[in-house]
Amino acid sequence: MLTDLMSHLADLPALPRRLAAPEPGWTETTDVLVVGSGVAGLTAALHLREQGLHVTVVTKVNIDDGSTRWAQGGIAGVLDPLDTPEAHAFDTEIAGVGLCDPAAVRVLVEEGPARIRELIRIGAEFDRNADGSLMLTREGGHRADRIVHAGGDATGAEVQRALHEAVHRDPWIRLVEHALVLDLLRAADGRACGITLHVLGEGSEDGVGAILARAVVLATGGMGQVFASTTNPSVSTGDGVALALRAGAVVTDVEFVQFHPTSFVTASVTSVQRPLISEALRGEGAHLVDEAGERFMVGQHELAELAPRDVVAKGIHRVLRATGADHVYLDARHLGREFLEQRFPTIMASTRAAGVDPATELIPVAPAAHYASGGVRTDLHGRTSIPGLYACGEVACTGVHGANRLASNSLLEGLVFSRRIADDIARDLPPQADPVPTPASAGQGWVVSPAIRAELQRSMTRGAGVLRSADSLAATAKELTRLGEQHGTPRNAAWEATNLLTVAAALVASAAERRETRGCHWREDHPNAADEWRGHLLNSIDPRGRLTQTFEEMA
Ligand code: SIN
Repeated sequence: MLTDLMSHLADLPALPRRLAAPEPGWTETTDVLVVGSGVAGLTAALHLREQGLHVTVVTKVNIDDGSTRWAQGGIAGVLDPLDTPEAHAFDTEIAGVGLCDPAAVRVLVEEGPARIRELIRIGAEFDRNADGSLMLTREGGHRADRIVHAGGDATGAEVQRALHEAVHRDPWIRLVEHALVLDLLRAADGRACGITLHVLGEGSEDGVGAILARAVVLATGGMGQVFASTTNPSVSTGDGVALALRAGAVVTDVEFVQFHPTSFVTASVTSVQRPLISEALRGEGAHLVDEAGERFMVGQHELAELAPRDVVAKGIHRVLRATGADHVYLDARHLGREFLEQRFPTIMASTRAAGVDPATELIPVAPAAHYASGGVRTDLHGRTSIPGLYACGEVACTGVHGANRLASNSLLEGLVFSRRIADDIARDLPPQADPVPTPASAGQGWVVSPAIRAELQRSMTRGAGVLRSADSLAATAKELTRLGEQHGTPRNAAWEATNLLTVAAALVASAAERRETRGCHWREDHPNAADEWRGHLLNSIDPRGRLTQTFEEMA
């Protein structure tokens, strides 16, 4: 059942009425356009090539600059003969607190192992035991060892390397780097038929251009940069979600932002992106302790430090509130130097660079925004509500994560659904259509000043971070409206800041509307899960540029 909602925020954050992109100075065509170059985008490109299609991949900075290469823990998949897809589905749905789509979860857990084996075939080298079998570990919320990893804690870097090399080996995948997507182009029948983009390039491709395609795949990653501290790189600014919203697509579950419990807190890290201390470290036996050395997660959940992420992040937040400190500690000293060096080289390097030696010292940690469980709504084939527009990876909401993603299901989701998208596109690819002008005529609207970025991040962390309330969200909504009035010059940093503001506004409106606590959405004023909220908040922007919300009850 669908219900139209008026947000319970007295002042909904006003969406910036974004300036239409300038007329493209150049145009290219391709069969399928993939936007984004992490695990989801590059896997989609490779599978589309298997279908004999010509693919263009556009990416905002360099091919390896997205979130994938920062992933540490691994990829979850049923690879142990004693494990089962049912057990993986059970853990995924428990973590998702009643909001996972069981059909999407089934696809994820059943197709996942084959996709991991394909990744191995194209060259990804995962860690192995002495007998040559894949080494499997455990992370929060998993009741079995089912996570493959590479280079100890450098799984994402290895996955990115293998995909990058495979893409470079194929002369029919064209790569356009330093390209920020601006708007979706639509044909007269409403179908997606390309995008406009701003390329910081040389020669004929510099400036605003258009790439026309018979299908468009969004794989632009997450939106962690809406917060003041995140494990996401600086490119994670919600570009795909903002583009989809502007095009009229349905975006759902955006209030469910996962805060990773253990980002590294150190005075020497001054950027918004904080180093991750992988959950796999807790999977291998590290403990969370407070200032007094007490293991505060014991007794809060049967899995203690390995409870699902939302439970651990909340446990840490309670300690921080009670003590006024900005961190708790992870104690890995008992694991021994030799093991830590061999299993967690990335973490050892980043902590030691900041003067902390995990073999002999406690590691200061605190939650940081990590993963958008929601995004552009798709069906089981990655189709969005706009024909011809697909989404996969963190930008998408396939329904597998519900209210809180299970650890190491994200790279897996990118692998599984990008393949499904390629198959769907190959089944039914229409001829290239010409774009029609969008109703938002050039010259109207504005872009916001990039100078608002830090203030937006602080405001979001204060009012819409780990812990939220009607008052905190209303204060942030007001601040977002004010920030949206600071206009900028239409260059990449301003288009990007406008995207940040757009996704932040949708997030705040949804978080205000959902008056319950569920998964990673924690409302101080509504501390329990409520049956009437067992469903999804669907956001879209109406033709007058206003955010509208609908509530869809779970079947
Ligand atoms: C981690 O290594 O803790 C992160 C893995 C994930 O986000 O699934």
